[in-house]
Amino acid sequence: MPSEQSPLFYPDLALSKNAYVSSSAEYQQMYKKSIENPEEFWGEIARQFHWETPIDSDKFFRYNFDLTKGPIFNKWLDGATTNISYNLLDRNIRNGHGDKIAYYWEGNHPDDYSRLTYKKLLEEVCRFANVLKSLGVNKGDRVAIYMPMILEAVITLLACTRIGAVHSLVFAGFSSDSFAERITDCEARIIVTADGVWRGEKLLQLKSICDQAMAKCAQEGHNVQHCIVVSHLERVTSPSGSQRHSNRTPMTEGRDIWWQDVVPQASTSCYPEWMQAEDPLFMLYTSGSTGKPKGVLHTTAGYLLYAATTFKYVFDYKLNDVYWCTADIGWITGHSYVVYGPLANAATSVLFEGTPFYPDNDRFWAVIDKYKVTQFYTAPTAIRALMKFGEQIVKKHDLSTLKVMGSVGEPINPEAWLWYYKVVGHEKASIVDTFWQTETGGHVLTTLPGALPMKPGAAGFPFFGVQPVLLDENGKEIKGEGEGYLVFSRPWPGLMRTLYGSHDRYEVTYFSKFPGYYCTGDGARRDADGYLWVTGRVDDMLNVSGHLMSTAEIESVLTEHEHVSEAAVVAKPHPVKGECLYCFITLSEQGTYNEALLKELKTHVRERIGPFAQPDVIQNAPALPKTRSGKIMRRILRKVAVNDREVGDISTLAETGVVEQLFAMRPPNA
Ligand code: WTA
Repeated sequence: MPSEQSPLFYPDLALSKNAYVSSSAEYQQMYKKSIENPEEFWGEIARQFHWETPIDSDKFFRYNFDLTKGPIFNKWLDGATTNISYNLLDRNIRNGHGDKIAYYWEGNHPDDYSRLTYKKLLEEVCRFANVLKSLGVNKGDRVAIYMPMILEAVITLLACTRIGAVHSLVFAGFSSDSFAERITDCEARIIVTADGVWRGEKLLQLKSICDQAMAKCAQEGHNVQHCIVVSHLERVTSPSGSQRHSNRTPMTEGRDIWWQDVVPQASTSCYPEWMQAEDPLFMLYTSGSTGKPKGVLHTTAGYLLYAATTFKYVFDYKLNDVYWCTADIGWITGHSYVVYGPLANAATSVLFEGTPFYPDNDRFWAVIDKYKVTQFYTAPTAIRALMKFGEQIVKKHDLSTLKVMGSVGEPINPEAWLWYYKVVGHEKASIVDTFWQTETGGHVLTTLPGALPMKPGAAGFPFFGVQPVLLDENGKEIKGEGEGYLVFSRPWPGLMRTLYGSHDRYEVTYFSKFPGYYCTGDGARRDADGYLWVTGRVDDMLNVSGHLMSTAEIESVLTEHEHVSEAAVVAKPHPVKGECLYCFITLSEQGTYNEALLKELKTHVRERIGPFAQPDVIQNAPALPKTRSGKIMRRILRKVAVNDREVGDISTLAETGVVEQLFAMRPPNA
């Protein structure tokens, strides 16, 4: 979409006035300093935290991004020591925030809710840290976590950091096979889980999935010593008839331990383990193109600085605000923006266990209203799903407290952006479209909410310390307007340090394509105003008759049609054009899949992008195959497009029935 067609939306004046960064000029000035003088920029931020061994300014940061010059590395504040839980809890309590609410917990059922202050959170973290120690967990040991969105999940992460253990959280939606693979890979001896959780009306038996995973690990010769289980089901309301659920999961004697049997007795004080700045903090697996998951490793000091700073500026968080990120704790967004970033800023957050659709399709809006949420952070896929239910259901609730609304996970199509802006944000709240990755630790591209005008669908500009570059296929830099590979020419504190146990793969995956650059694997376009538009994964690029285009671009055009609520586009091999477009569309309630609609859509794509972009096939897709985090699994759509039923592992899908439905609904001539 050319920039001439992209209107600018200016931040609300009152928001701008009170924001940490109030104007484009102020952003430019701070950005310049972060690039020209990173020691001073990050040094001032670092001084707000506690360092047991002070920062050595000679070793502030060092790196090599060029494989031809030696191994890739990236180190920040090397030599300094600190403890993350100390900075997130003890430090905030000392600063007078002990009685401040750290989390409002909102259960799947609206009758279930609770809250936790900073002081209480510290006590619970110390208790669990002492339990872990008593089970023989030492500094550097890995702890595998498979938990729902409950307060004990946050407590577990922080307890690990208290004693220097490395947490490895696996989204509690992965299959037992996936979990087993991840436990074995990081050789975790301890697992923390819950008996189960309700998601809407569905009961997930988490502990039995862990049992299967532990059995698989044992077959591989890896024995898990202990599995600590939070007894959760019997304290929450079940969807049918509000009665409590009392089925207790089977426990293996000697191995399995109820959280409630050991934690309450443990001491509420635990001296923090002082960690080196570059000691591992956590690992988090992300999928790789080879199928084997990559254990992205983040370290202590740099990650703390980056999560804290991005949270503060991107959400413009002020002490009395109530912030809510809907991401699951099992993803990087949950790590950086449910746990570390908010707590580092003494924030009050909502921790939500449920789904947007239970007990009704207005749950998000009801929760914003209930807690008077000021910053809301969610994903485009959720926005598109909720758009389908119309405006009235949103208008039932008072959302006037919202100041900043975030988007993350995929490019947001302008249709969804405008709906979010107008219907949810009342044309007052700023939208921050945050581009980042598990690997980047925190936001790397966005607009700051009080400083920069927004363009629907554009991520915007680099965060402080980040230097984006666009490269063409030959590695030549594209200056000014243009589209190419999105890479970064220098590190920022939050960039991952390695892949766990596989530094070679790290170097090859991220640094070998373009020497001297960290390669995101995404494409981006810079418009005439300098805004960066992320066009999607480079592997989602399509080449139709020599024209390079991104699936996101076409999807966005398709969803402009009032009867299309969601679209996904994949490449299908074509004898003449090389590849052609195979599109899947989910219709809104008023839409009908018929010849007239298909004609309209094809014409629209021709008009908006060009004749070369005209779809060959447009298939009706009542639902798209998505992971539980909402990512569309294009690999499956590519199989449907070529009618190949060998779809491979679909265990990470939220709804596996979708796959069969899509095969059954292929148009006869496709
Ligand atoms: C995509 C999620 C466009 C991108 C934080 C990236 C986005 C991948 C955006 C990382 C955005 C994330 N605009 N694309 N605002 N945010 N992506 O590791 O393709 O789960 O490479 O991290 O999501 O996904 P991950």
